[in-house]
Amino acid sequence: MDFKAELDKRVEEIEGIIRYFLPEEKGYQKTVLEAVNYSVLGGGKRLRPMLMSETYKLFNGQDGAINYFMAAIELVHTYSLVHDDLECMDNDEFRRGRKTTHAVYGEGMAVLAGDALLNCAVEIAASAFDETSNPNAVVKSMRILFNKSGIYGMLGGQVADVVCESKDSEVMDKDMIMFIHENKTAALLQASLMIGGLLGGATEVAVRTLERIGYNIGIAFQIQDDILDVTSTFEELGKPIGSDERNNKMTFVSLYGLEEAKKEVERLSIDAINLLHTLPGDNEFLEELLRSLINRRK
Ligand code: IPE
Ligand code: IPE
Ligand code: MG
Ligand code: MG
Ligand code: MG
Repeated sequence: MDFKAELDKRVEEIEGIIRYFLPEEKGYQKTVLEAVNYSVLGGGKRLRPMLMSETYKLFNGQDGAINYFMAAIELVHTYSLVHDDLECMDNDEFRRGRKTTHAVYGEGMAVLAGDALLNCAVEIAASAFDETSNPNAVVKSMRILFNKSGIYGMLGGQVADVVCESKDSEVMDKDMIMFIHENKTAALLQASLMIGGLLGGATEVAVRTLERIGYNIGIAFQIQDDILDVTSTFEELGKPIGSDERNNKMTFVSLYGLEEAKKEVERLSIDAINLLHTLPGDNEFLEELLRSLINRRK
């Protein structure tokens, strides 16, 4: 398999799905609609919709609802990035190789664009009922998406991340860092896999396994994000490096050092791949994708 070619093909397909659901830039609210589209279409790996769709394929899914949820989760992720970059949060001026939403449209419009993205995600997910043969799976998927992105998921993790900025490093410990990683990052990756599975027809037990796989991938993904914040360059990463140190963030790297962090990424990723093997079905691309994340450079 030519992994790079397969990856590019999937990114293109996902872009098409996302574009279909984006709003038209018209009306008195045009400015915020431009900010929404600017935020979503600025590149990005599209990892969450990709994991969702590949998990769905693993279970031989046949439900039109999948496209709705692929778009919805990327919009939720994008909203989290727009707000994460705000001056009152990480105060970063670049994302995906170009100016952040607030740097282009101003702070007020960036806050509103984030709100709009979340709101659009709800509308899109609810519209999945129009095209499903399994409304029960759509209800469950909505519950997962908005639980894993809310106060018991991504948003909760961002809260702890902000609270920790003002703490001395002595009081930060492993429990805290794991809480932050699990929620701010792993939760949305868990949702991607779980929804892909649910809409694909996975059993309850398989969905629980997908949640565990998502946990491992998610923690590894954030540790790697923190490694790249120290070891990458702006050109390669498309977002500022040194952001964590500037914001006095507690990261796995600041707590355990680079070498330990790299080992942990590998260990967690291998665990995820081994767990994947316990599921029925086979998806070579998905496995390769998980493997590629171990040494990702962006
Ligand atoms: C960045 O996510 C935020 C984290 C959770 C680490 P990605 O690295 O997936 O960002 P994009 O979507 O590719 O820009
Ligand atoms: C943020 O983590 C994760 C989100 C929920 C957005 P970071 O603050 O480290 O993400 P980047 O490095 O800005 O993408
Ligand atoms: Mg942050
Ligand atoms: Mg940030
Ligand atoms: Mg980061």
